[in-house]
Amino acid sequence: MTGSVRPLVAGNWKMNGLAAQLAEAQAVRDALGESSVAAEVMICPPATLLAQTAWAVKGSSILLGGQDCHTEAAGAYTGDVSAEMLADAGARAVIVGHSERRAVHGELDRQVRAKAEAAHRAGLTAIVCVGETAGERSAGLTEDVVRRQLAGSLPDAAMAANTVVAYEPVWAIGTGLTPTAADVARVHAAIRQALIARFAGEGAGMRILYGGSVKPTNARELLAIENVNGALVGGASLKASDFLGIVAAYGN
Ligand code: 13P
Repeated sequence: MTGSVRPLVAGNWKMNGLAAQLAEAQAVRDALGESSVAAEVMICPPATLLAQTAWAVKGSSILLGGQDCHTEAAGAYTGDVSAEMLADAGARAVIVGHSERRAVHGELDRQVRAKAEAAHRAGLTAIVCVGETAGERSAGLTEDVVRRQLAGSLPDAAMAANTVVAYEPVWAIGTGLTPTAADVARVHAAIRQALIARFAGEGAGMRILYGGSVKPTNARELLAIENVNGALVGGASLKASDFLGIVAAYGN
């Protein structure tokens, strides 16, 4: 599938960034303006910065995404943000089911699926995260876990144009550890197989991102793996130079 779909490199800023961080988004914008990159580039700032980031990158090809959304469009849900609100602030996508939300907020597959449906309702692309813990990996359960999460978290109506899967092994997030290229290839192939089995041609076209300690130093190797259609980048997306170093893996 690699090569038939346009790859996506998305930066997940997580709960990082005050207004000064906008300078990094502007630096990415300025650099991309001068280069030709084969990938789509997305920044997912915290909700507080979304509208300002949209302003900061206005006129560029940089896409914006949220990091989570509520299932409802509006209502008495203090502190929550809806997919419609993210879209209104300039987002084109939203990450749902990130392992930090699954772990810290106890989000279950069915909630993640409802959030993905909310994203689609609002016209956003849902970036649906899956991935095994260290314990599940050492028990040999990686593919089982990922298949179960996919089955439970993806809406039946998911399409290639509005759904991206991000494989993020929990033990690789923020640790500097990454799976071997062979491991990534195996899990991404299993994900592709599951997507095709359920969504046929749409599943063949869905992008599957790898996430977990992607850096400029390992991006080229990771992003060249079959069925890896881009990256979801955490820590290295906070500095424009690092993020651009990853995007450059798709440079012409
Ligand atoms: P790191 O790139 O910091 O490991 O984070 C990955 C991640 O969780 C992106 O969503």
